[in-house]
Amino acid sequence: MTPDEILKQVAQEVAVCQKCQLHHGRKHAVPGEGPSNAKIMFIGEGPGFYENEQGRPFVGAAGKFLEELLAGIGMRREQVFIGNVVKCRPPGNRDPLPEEISACGAYLDRQIAAINPQVVVTLGRYSMARFLPNAKISSVHGQSFQVNGRLVVPMYHPAAALHQPSLKSDVERDFARLPELISKGVEAPAHQEGQEKPDSSPAEEKPQPKQLSLF
Ligand code: URA
Ligand code: SF4
Repeated sequence: MTPDEILKQVAQEVAVCQKCQLHHGRKHAVPGEGPSNAKIMFIGEGPGFYENEQGRPFVGAAGKFLEELLAGIGMRREQVFIGNVVKCRPPGNRDPLPEEISACGAYLDRQIAAINPQVVVTLGRYSMARFLPNAKISSVHGQSFQVNGRLVVPMYHPAAALHQPSLKSDVERDFARLPELISKGVEAPAHQEGQEKPDSSPAEEKPQPKQLSLF
């Protein structure tokens, strides 16, 4: 299957998925969107009210801020892939539970494997924890890590940053470093068939955060 076909297939599967209890509140699944050859992939937490209504990621206030952050580095949202760790809205926008993140993980892994981005930017701690299980967002945000051969840059969630001025300037600063990472020609790992990681087992290998010597 081509990367496009894999993304379409994942979108079809999540629309009818019942692997966790979040399907009960689903109006529209939010598989994520963006080009299958995107160089950057942003991974948020999960759909909120408006995302559940529309079936699209980051269409509320956090999305508007994400678009502003992208504009700040000369990018539009159509140029990047934007997804989430869970594809269905947690009731009342509560945090996703470990078993929900784990149940949904295989979809995310297939999306990452298909897109094979140069850089994965995690937005918020649940997204970060899938790649850097032991990291603390306040100390690692904006740094780059090699995880399973892929560059991962954890950042604060735009929704959190919207409400806290100090986080807002952090996330703006962290964003400003993304073009450098891309232009340094960091290579995406060789494309591999199959899944990004073993089915639903985030953090099994406990990759140690290792800062690149790029900076
Ligand atoms: N917040 C997220 O984490 N994801 C969305 O899609 C929207 C808001
Ligand atoms: Fe399936 Fe993910 Fe939705 Fe749970 S959140 S029902 S695992 S698509």
